[in-house]
Amino acid sequence: KELVFLEKIDSTNEECKRRSLKGAKAGLVVVADTQSAGKGRRGRGWTSDKGSTISMSYLLKPDFSPDIAPMLTIIMAMASAEGIGRVTGIEVGIKWPNDIVINGKKAVGILTEMTAEPDYIQEVIIGTGINVSVEKFPDAIKDTATSIYLETGKRFSRALIVGEITTAFEIYYERFLKEGNLNRLTDAYNAL
Ligand code: BTN
Repeated sequence: KELVFLEKIDSTNEECKRRSLKGAKAGLVVVADTQSAGKGRRGRGWTSDKGSTISMSYLLKPDFSPDIAPMLTIIMAMASAEGIGRVTGIEVGIKWPNDIVINGKKAVGILTEMTAEPDYIQEVIIGTGINVSVEKFPDAIKDTATSIYLETGKRFSRALIVGEITTAFEIYYERFLKEGNLNRLTDAYNAL
Protein backbone atom coordinates (compact mmCIF):
# COMPACT_ATOMS: atom_id res chain seq x y z
CA LYS A 1 0.00 0.00 0.00
CA GLU A 2 1.03 3.63 -0.37
CA LEU A 3 3.24 5.08 2.37
CA VAL A 4 3.97 8.80 2.38
CA PHE A 5 6.73 10.36 4.48
CA LEU A 6 6.62 14.08 5.26
CA GLU A 7 9.18 16.11 7.19
CA LYS A 8 6.51 18.30 8.73
CA ILE A 9 2.72 18.51 8.63
CA ASP A 10 -0.02 19.96 10.86
CA SER A 11 -1.39 16.50 11.72
CA THR A 12 -0.99 13.19 9.93
CA ASN A 13 -4.68 12.49 10.66
CA GLU A 14 -5.63 15.73 8.87
CA GLU A 15 -3.30 14.92 5.98
CA CYS A 16 -4.98 11.52 5.58
CA LYS A 17 -8.37 13.26 5.45
CA ARG A 18 -7.17 15.72 2.80
CA ARG A 19 -5.64 12.96 0.69
CA SER A 20 -8.80 10.88 1.05
CA LEU A 21 -10.86 13.78 -0.35
CA LYS A 22 -8.51 13.80 -3.32
CA GLY A 23 -9.10 10.09 -3.89
CA ALA A 24 -6.39 8.35 -1.84
CA LYS A 25 -7.03 4.64 -1.51
CA ALA A 26 -7.63 2.69 1.68
CA GLY A 27 -4.38 1.49 3.19
CA LEU A 28 -2.56 4.81 2.77
CA VAL A 29 -0.14 5.46 5.64
CA VAL A 30 1.12 8.98 6.28
CA VAL A 31 4.22 9.24 8.48
CA ALA A 32 5.73 12.53 9.62
CA ASP A 33 8.93 13.50 11.40
CA THR A 34 7.08 16.24 13.26
CA GLN A 35 3.59 17.75 13.52
CA SER A 36 2.80 21.42 14.10
CA ALA A 37 -0.76 20.80 15.33
CA GLY A 38 -0.82 17.19 16.52
CA LYS A 39 -4.17 16.17 17.96
CA GLY A 40 -4.74 14.10 21.07
CA ARG A 41 -7.95 12.55 22.33
CA ARG A 42 -10.75 14.61 23.86
CA GLY A 43 -9.71 17.76 22.01
CA ARG A 44 -6.26 17.85 23.60
CA GLY A 45 -3.05 18.53 21.72
CA TRP A 46 -0.25 16.05 21.11
CA THR A 47 3.43 16.96 20.98
CA SER A 48 5.48 15.31 18.23
CA ASP A 49 9.06 16.51 18.51
CA LYS A 50 11.24 16.38 15.43
CA GLY A 51 13.74 13.53 15.29
CA SER A 52 12.47 11.73 18.38
CA THR A 53 8.85 10.75 17.77
CA ILE A 54 6.77 8.88 15.22
CA SER A 55 3.51 10.34 13.94
CA MET A 56 1.67 7.98 11.64
CA SER A 57 -1.89 7.63 10.41
CA TYR A 58 -3.72 4.94 8.49
CA LEU A 59 -6.56 5.72 6.10
CA LEU A 60 -9.05 2.84 6.03
CA LYS A 61 -12.40 2.40 4.30
CA PRO A 62 -13.78 -0.85 5.69
CA ASP A 63 -17.09 -2.17 4.47
CA PHE A 64 -18.44 -2.59 8.01
CA SER A 65 -20.93 -0.83 10.23
CA PRO A 66 -19.56 2.17 12.19
CA ASP A 67 -19.64 0.34 15.50
CA ILE A 68 -16.46 -1.51 14.54
CA ALA A 69 -14.31 1.62 14.83
CA PRO A 70 -13.26 0.86 18.43
CA MET A 71 -12.08 -2.55 17.31
CA LEU A 72 -9.78 -0.95 14.77
CA THR A 73 -8.26 1.11 17.57
CA ILE A 74 -7.68 -2.10 19.51
CA ILE A 75 -5.99 -3.69 16.50
CA MET A 76 -3.72 -0.65 16.19
CA ALA A 77 -2.88 -0.83 19.89
CA MET A 78 -1.93 -4.49 19.53
CA ALA A 79 0.13 -3.85 16.41
CA SER A 80 1.96 -0.97 18.11
CA ALA A 81 2.73 -3.02 21.20
CA GLU A 82 3.89 -5.93 19.10
CA GLY A 83 5.97 -3.82 16.70
CA ILE A 84 7.70 -1.91 19.48
CA GLY A 85 8.30 -5.14 21.38
CA ARG A 86 9.88 -6.78 18.33
CA VAL A 87 12.30 -3.95 17.62
CA THR A 88 13.26 -3.14 21.21
CA GLY A 89 12.88 -6.49 22.95
CA ILE A 90 11.19 -4.77 25.88
CA GLU A 91 7.89 -5.63 27.47
CA VAL A 92 5.18 -3.28 26.29
CA GLY A 93 1.63 -3.30 27.65
CA ILE A 94 -1.75 -1.91 26.63
CA LYS A 95 -3.71 0.27 29.02
CA TRP A 96 -7.34 -0.16 28.08
CA PRO A 97 -8.41 0.75 25.54
CA ASN A 98 -5.64 2.32 23.53
CA ASP A 99 -2.63 3.65 25.36
CA ILE A 100 0.63 1.76 25.09
CA VAL A 101 2.56 1.74 28.32
CA ILE A 102 6.11 0.85 29.29
CA ASN A 103 6.73 0.34 33.01
CA GLY A 104 3.31 1.85 33.69
CA LYS A 105 3.90 5.10 31.78
CA LYS A 106 2.36 6.09 28.45
CA ALA A 107 4.69 5.95 25.43
CA VAL A 108 2.10 5.75 22.64
CA GLY A 109 -1.29 7.38 22.06
CA ILE A 110 -3.87 6.49 19.42
CA LEU A 111 -6.54 8.79 18.02
CA THR A 112 -9.17 7.19 15.79
CA GLU A 113 -11.41 9.48 13.78
CA MET A 114 -14.29 8.40 11.59
CA THR A 115 -16.62 9.87 9.00
CA ALA A 116 -19.75 7.76 8.79
CA GLU A 117 -23.46 7.54 8.19
CA PRO A 118 -25.50 5.48 10.68
CA ASP A 119 -24.91 2.23 8.79
CA TYR A 120 -21.92 3.01 6.61
CA ILE A 121 -18.31 4.06 7.18
CA GLN A 122 -16.92 6.55 4.71
CA GLU A 123 -13.47 6.49 6.23
CA VAL A 124 -11.64 5.72 9.43
CA ILE A 125 -8.34 7.34 10.26
CA ILE A 126 -6.20 5.73 12.92
CA GLY A 127 -3.42 8.01 14.11
CA THR A 128 -0.61 6.78 16.32
CA GLY A 129 1.94 8.92 18.12
CA ILE A 130 5.03 7.23 19.56
CA ASN A 131 7.62 8.72 21.87
CA VAL A 132 10.77 7.02 20.64
CA SER A 133 13.83 9.03 21.75
CA VAL A 134 12.18 11.88 23.67
CA GLU A 135 14.54 12.79 26.53
CA LYS A 136 12.38 15.10 28.59
CA PHE A 137 8.69 15.79 29.09
CA PRO A 138 7.05 18.95 30.44
CA ASP A 139 6.38 18.96 34.20
CA ALA A 140 2.63 18.59 33.64
CA ILE A 141 3.01 15.10 32.13
CA LYS A 142 6.43 13.91 33.25
CA ASP A 143 4.98 11.52 35.85
CA THR A 144 2.71 9.77 33.36
CA ALA A 145 4.50 10.04 30.00
CA THR A 146 7.61 8.25 28.83
CA SER A 147 9.61 7.29 25.75
CA ILE A 148 11.30 4.10 24.61
CA TYR A 149 14.67 5.80 25.18
CA LEU A 150 13.86 6.83 28.76
CA GLU A 151 12.80 3.29 29.61
CA THR A 152 15.66 1.45 27.90
CA GLY A 153 18.54 3.94 27.68
CA LYS A 154 18.79 2.98 24.00
CA ARG A 155 17.93 4.70 20.73
CA PHE A 156 16.03 2.69 18.15
CA SER A 157 15.37 3.30 14.45
CA ARG A 158 11.99 4.88 13.89
CA ALA A 159 11.85 3.38 10.39
CA LEU A 160 12.22 -0.13 11.80
CA ILE A 161 9.46 0.53 14.33
CA VAL A 162 7.11 1.82 11.60
CA GLY A 163 7.95 -1.25 9.52
CA GLU A 164 7.17 -3.72 12.30
CA ILE A 165 3.97 -1.92 13.32
CA THR A 166 2.59 -1.75 9.77
CA THR A 167 3.48 -5.40 9.20
CA ALA A 168 1.66 -6.44 12.39
CA PHE A 169 -1.28 -4.14 11.71
CA GLU A 170 -1.88 -5.49 8.24
CA ILE A 171 -1.89 -9.10 9.47
CA TYR A 172 -4.39 -8.32 12.25
CA TYR A 173 -6.53 -6.11 10.01
CA GLU A 174 -6.79 -8.68 7.21
CA ARG A 175 -7.74 -11.31 9.78
CA PHE A 176 -10.36 -9.00 11.26
CA LEU A 177 -11.86 -8.25 7.83
CA LYS A 178 -12.08 -11.96 7.09
CA GLU A 179 -13.54 -13.00 10.43
CA GLY A 180 -15.57 -9.87 11.27
CA ASN A 181 -14.68 -10.02 14.94
CA LEU A 182 -11.75 -10.00 17.32
CA ASN A 183 -12.45 -13.35 18.96
CA ARG A 184 -9.16 -14.91 17.89
CA LEU A 185 -7.24 -11.86 19.12
CA THR A 186 -8.77 -11.61 22.58
CA ASP A 187 -6.16 -13.76 24.31
CA ALA A 188 -3.29 -11.86 22.72
CA TYR A 189 -4.87 -8.52 23.64
CA ASN A 190 -5.47 -9.56 27.23
CA ALA A 191 -1.91 -10.81 27.52
CA LEU A 192 -0.67 -7.35 26.57
C1 BTN B 1 -3.94 10.50 22.77
O1 BTN B 1 -4.42 11.57 23.20
O2 BTN B 1 -3.50 9.63 23.52
C2 BTN B 1 -3.90 10.25 21.29
C3 BTN B 1 -2.71 10.86 20.63
C4 BTN B 1 -2.64 10.58 19.14
C5 BTN B 1 -1.50 11.28 18.47
C6 BTN B 1 -1.33 10.85 17.05
S1 BTN B 1 0.20 11.42 16.35
C7 BTN B 1 -0.31 10.90 14.77
C8 BTN B 1 -1.78 11.27 14.65
N1 BTN B 1 -1.92 12.63 14.22
C9 BTN B 1 -2.49 13.41 15.14
O3 BTN B 1 -2.73 14.63 15.01
N2 BTN B 1 -2.77 12.68 16.24
C10 BTN B 1 -2.39 11.30 16.06
